[in-house]
Formats: sequence, C-alpha cells, structure tokens
Amino acid sequence: MTIRIVQLGVCLAVAGLYAQTTHHSGTQERKPMSTAIPGYAYGRPALAKSPVSLEDLDLLKKSVLFTGDDVRYLRMSHDVLKDQTEQVLDVWYGFVASHPHLVYYFGRKSDGQPDGDYLAAVRRRFAQWILDTAAADYGQKWLDYQHEIGRRHHRTGKNQTDGAPSVDNISYRYLPAFIYPITATLKPFLANKGHSADDVDKMHQAWVKSVILQVTLWSHPYVKDGDF
Ligand code: HEM
Repeated sequence: MTIRIVQLGVCLAVAGLYAQTTHHSGTQERKPMSTAIPGYAYGRPALAKSPVSLEDLDLLKKSVLFTGDDVRYLRMSHDVLKDQTEQVLDVWYGFVASHPHLVYYFGRKSDGQPDGDYLAAVRRRFAQWILDTAAADYGQKWLDYQHEIGRRHHRTGKNQTDGAPSVDNISYRYLPAFIYPITATLKPFLANKGHSADDVDKMHQAWVKSVILQVTLWSHPYVKDGDF
C-alpha cells in the first residue's frame, strides 16, 4: 500500500508538471481552446450532438433551481478561480490518490498501477473544465461537450482520447457521490479573494447546482435507452 501511494505521488507530480495554466477570453463569448489542450474537444464540429435538447436542459436547470443569478455567481467565480486551478486540482487529485478504489480508474489494466501519462493528460482538461464551468455559457456546444465528457467516463468513450491502457469503465455509483467532495473542497478557494461571506456562499451554491447538472448530463450513457 505504501509503495502504491508513493508511486501515485510520482504520477500526480508528473500530472502537475504537465498541467498548464489556461486562459479565458471573457464571460460573454468564450472561445474554446480546442487546439491548445490535447483531447479537449469543446466546440469541435466533429463532436456528436447531445441527445439532450436545449429545452430539456432548460427543464433540468429549473429542476435544480439553476437561475440567471447562478450564471452571474459562476462568472464571478471565474475571476476568483482562474489563477487557482492548479491548487484546486492538487486537492481533487489528492482526494482520488488517497482512495485506492478511486485511483483504480486511472490504473493500467496490465499491472493495476496508476498511469502517469493518463493522469497528466486528464488533468489539463480538468483545469479547463473549471474555467468552462465558471464561464457558464451553457449553450449547444457546451451541451454537446457534456455528452462527450459523459462518454469519456463510460465504457463507450473511456481511454480513447488519450489512448490510455486503463480499465474500461468508471462505475456509475461514484459519479454522483463525487459531487460532494468536488464542491465541498472548492469552497475555501472561492473565499480566497476577499469576497463577502454571502458572495462566497452564492458562488458555492451555483457551483453545486452546476456540478449536479453536469453529472446528470454525464449519466446519459449509463442509463438504459428511453429511461433518461
Ligand atoms: C463530480 C464528479 C466528477 C467530475 C466533476 C469529473 C470531472 C472530470 C473532467 C472535467 C474530466 C476531463 C473531461 C475531458 O476530457 O475534457 C474527467 C475525466 C475523467 N475522470 Fe472524472 N469527474 C467526476 C467523477 C469521476 C470519478 C468518480 C472518477 C473515478 C475515479 C473519475 C475519473 C475520471 C477519468 C479516469 C477520466 C478520464 C476519462 C477518459 O479516459 O477520457 N471521474 N473527469
């Protein structure tokens, strides 16, 4: 177990070395950085259209009480988080690293060890995801990429983007469970830039709703046809 954690630490350090700071072009008209980050396909024409319509997305937003205020607070969080993404990812990757049943999904099929290249490649897209979530421009292109991210967790798309030699599928049960650690650990970072407690709370609530919304969209490939 000790050896495994040390090896994982090396992988995570590698992932950190490869991670790059990402930039954002503004909150009104975002320009996806599809060429800068390998495998990042937001806005690519070749991406399949989401099976969920914008109308359905709208009903989903209503169901999680996601409003224009949440868009505003997410965009406020963009400025707060844009120079902290690596620190946030250190915490999230650290959480995964400390749980063998989670790091398993970054493991090689051959020997079960975490794959450093895979961790590093995913980490760069994860950093961009923080900025995309905070940009809160949830139109058709965003919706299509949500479907792709769902596929990448599911056996229909996992490993393909990075040619990773890893296990085939992330067990569904961990996706909704992960919403809590992802959002709870984000809150201290939202408080790092001197905003009022009320603003921090509202940014945090907006993040919770957005992550619930996204994980719900990512569930599509896991749900039996006709049941989504
Ligand atoms: C709230 C839940 C989760 C969030 C917000 C999240 C976020 C992300 C993001 C942003 C990416 C990169 C997407 C891209 O390619 O652009 C990703 C990929 C990945 N995530 Fe998650 N994730 C969640 C749950 C999980 C869980 C529970 C695991 C299991 C440990 C996991 C393992 C992975 C793996 C292995 C990849 C790479 C998939 C591939 O082969 O492309 N994720 N995740």
